[in-house]
Amino acid sequence: MPQLSIIVPTYCEAENLKNLIPRISQVLKDSDIVAEIIVVDDNSPDETIAVCQTLAESFPIQLITRKQERGLSTAVIAGIDAAAGEFLLVMDADLSHPPEAIPDLYAALQNQGVDFVIGSRYVNGGSTEENWGWFRKLNSRIATWLARPFTNAKDPMAGFFAISRHHFLKVREILNPVGYKIGLELLVKCRCRNVVEVPIHFADRTLGTSKLSFKEQLSYLRHLKRLAEFKYQNYAYFVQFAIIGLTGVFVNLAALSILLHWLIRPVAIAVAIWISMSTNFLLNRNITFSYARHAPILKQYLTYCGSCLTGAVFNWLTAETLCRSFAYFEQNTLLAAFIGILTGMAFNFILCRYLVFAKQNTVRDEG
Ligand code: GDD
Ligand code: MN
Repeated sequence: MPQLSIIVPTYCEAENLKNLIPRISQVLKDSDIVAEIIVVDDNSPDETIAVCQTLAESFPIQLITRKQERGLSTAVIAGIDAAAGEFLLVMDADLSHPPEAIPDLYAALQNQGVDFVIGSRYVNGGSTEENWGWFRKLNSRIATWLARPFTNAKDPMAGFFAISRHHFLKVREILNPVGYKIGLELLVKCRCRNVVEVPIHFADRTLGTSKLSFKEQLSYLRHLKRLAEFKYQNYAYFVQFAIIGLTGVFVNLAALSILLHWLIRPVAIAVAIWISMSTNFLLNRNITFSYARHAPILKQYLTYCGSCLTGAVFNWLTAETLCRSFAYFEQNTLLAAFIGILTGMAFNFILCRYLVFAKQNTVRDEG
């Protein structure tokens, strides 16, 4: 029975595997670690599968070939599902992650109370290749910065990490990652507190090509949205709702400035309101409350309009009541109006969240 399972997701990594597997094996031998290596390949069109089968004659490799599915995160989960070790370590196949760091990550994970270990580029002693251009550096920094609300780890985007099986099993059923960042998903969902970062040097791949496409980067944003909803729940929905509300102000003013050329003012204002309400509806349906985007649109749109109207009535009532009841607000009408806006928005939000875009069991829960 292996103590450690090393999961290596691959897509077209034939040449790299030939180097990686013997290097891992040497490291394990030198440090007396009994481990299995699980390669999860998504039916690569190159020689990956054949190379892996040949290597399996000399090394403790289990090859999982997935024919129906593609994707780094789900490949890692499939690998962990098949793993036998009590400790799990995930790393890339392209030699960006030094196999020589495996014993350090493994040792750190065995320390009392440690939940999660990262092979980290961004702690003291860690590094990336010096030839990274400014764009790549900036890209990596922004992606890391966007993960700040979810974790204090310095390198939460790392694909080189270790976690114990019992920790993993606690959240197995609620994992729902899109794209690349399975490490971040685990950090957040496991509510990992004691995270240790072992410094590593992240080398650039010399063989094969990166699969991190622009599409994957967009997936990252969708992933962040899901994590925000998981961690912050209604606050996360409200922030999205508020941002979209703000875009509505601009849509409204832009539409009005155009419409005024053709229509008389009262009509132009009404049409501008209708346009911005409709764009807000579409944005909320597809982004904020995207879990409800498969529900029939017409009924949803009409209830949305009703909800906005209700919000507007509460807005008006609040502002008017404040002005009539307090001399202070009578003199500061704008402040009363602002509080009215907030109240109306809160009502509108609650109606949207629980009525217009209500979560139904039959609706696919995807962000
Ligand atoms: N099974 C499977 N399916 N494996 C995949 C897939 C897929 O769809 N896409 C990529 N992989 C494998 C690659 O073969 C490689 O072993 C590993 O996942 C990482 O893929 P790369 O294409 O080399 O990614 P990268 O170098 O751009 O990104 C790496 O560094 C990032 C930090 O800079 C990854 O480790 C990321 O997780 C990490 O965030
Ligand atoms: Mn890589």
